[in-house]
Amino acid sequence: MDSLWAIILAAGKGTRFKSNQVKVLHPLLGWPMLKWVLEAVSGLEAEKICVVVGYQKEQVKKEIKSQKVEFIHQKKQLGTAHAVLSAKDFIKHDLSQDILIINGDLPLIRTETLQPLVEKHKQSGNELTFMSAEMTDPTGFGRLNYGSKGTLRIVEEKEATKQQKKIKEANVGIYIFKAQALMETLPKISNDNNKGEYYITDAVEILSKESKKVGVHQTQNIEEIIGVNDRFEMALAAKKLRTRKIKDLTSQGVTFYDPESTWIDADVSIGKDTVIYPSVVLEGKTVIGKECKIFPSVHIIQSRLKNGVKILTSTMIEESLIEDHVQVGPFAHLRRETVLKKGSKVGNFVEMKKTVFGEKSKAGHLSYLGDCEVGKEVNIGAGTITCNYDGRKKHRTEIKDGAFIGSGVQLVAPLKIGKKAYIGAGSTITKDVSAYSLAVERSPQKQRKEWVKKKIQK
Ligand code: UD1
Ligand code: CA
Repeated sequence: MDSLWAIILAAGKGTRFKSNQVKVLHPLLGWPMLKWVLEAVSGLEAEKICVVVGYQKEQVKKEIKSQKVEFIHQKKQLGTAHAVLSAKDFIKHDLSQDILIINGDLPLIRTETLQPLVEKHKQSGNELTFMSAEMTDPTGFGRLNYGSKGTLRIVEEKEATKQQKKIKEANVGIYIFKAQALMETLPKISNDNNKGEYYITDAVEILSKESKKVGVHQTQNIEEIIGVNDRFEMALAAKKLRTRKIKDLTSQGVTFYDPESTWIDADVSIGKDTVIYPSVVLEGKTVIGKECKIFPSVHIIQSRLKNGVKILTSTMIEESLIEDHVQVGPFAHLRRETVLKKGSKVGNFVEMKKTVFGEKSKAGHLSYLGDCEVGKEVNIGAGTITCNYDGRKKHRTEIKDGAFIGSGVQLVAPLKIGKKAYIGAGSTITKDVSAYSLAVERSPQKQRKEWVKKKIQK
């Protein structure tokens, strides 16, 4: 069997996106659009993949790292056939093989949908086999126009007559050529059309008129062939990808109370019997373990949650690690490099940054802990804050096992609080406190008896 090489067309700027960023790098579920296509093509076991880049080529190369992929620069975007022609050295490498050509703006396409096209091409011995779909509204797509003598051509929307626009069978933008036929056809394509572009779709008519074997594989998976040409189409495509992702997770034993309002990236993984409440956003390579509960409006970015974790309403977690049976929130904010050890509890309006919070320790209310190392079974009283920044540098605070920090304490770093030490409420602690000591820093309370009565009489 001939081997398969693939070309992904991704040089267009995507004018209809009205963006400073090239279309194929716009993310869907955290992956650049192009990566979705690349994944689907990679699943075919294409030996080599060539991506035709143009606009912002360096950024595209940076985002797409894969050993299988080579990049070719199309300097001017003169049309899809011109894009293919710019990859001629890639095609010529071995003229006995098949070349799959696919538009880079088809993020919904799956390997399973490409497979039958490949099979049909291999079995038929066609020079060209391409994918079509019967659509209720094919506006914007090229249409398949069958001639009376068994010829076939694709008419682009811009060139189509009223009659041709009524054709429902559309060109999807996925083609397999025999490399030899492709190389012979490319020079015959002209730009004599309304857009002044070289259309790869013209290859259909050229080969067909030469009585070469051209075949069509009509796919039934219509929802996958939506070409993303503007941001609204991207939003629709992202919604479909999200539904796919959530469906996959539910099949692995995860509950989503409201899939419609859940936002989840492609790289997120979730363990069995975890429950996701409405309006949750899960981003990046977030890993959530088994039997967790993620309550409404929680936002988690690039974090790891182990098993039995509860994240209460309206909590934000970024680049953090949360161990078994921890409870966080409501309204907590864990910033980068925070580690909550087993069984610890972080409550309302608590913010942490670069803090390791020990086993079974508690910070229940209104605290800020930054650059801290907190031992086991430490109690952080309501309103306690670390003063970790002196205007120039950040300093560390260390709180040893079993320490008790009263409410409303300021811990001015750098600072060490010893094992089982007690800090009286309202203290501003600037010096290290040794193990088992009590530290109180408070001005003596004054009381003037009957002072209020005298004030009223005045
Ligand atoms: C194309 C097809 C159309 C089909 C539709 C399916 C042509 C002429 N038309 O139209 O029949 O129904 O896809 O979605 O091919 N590109 C380049 N270099 C260029 C021009 C485009 O690399 O010079 C890339 C784009 O980045 C894009 C892909 O080719 O990923 C398709 O180009 P686009 O302009 O979106 O073609 P459509 O108008 O959608
Ligand atoms: Ca398109």
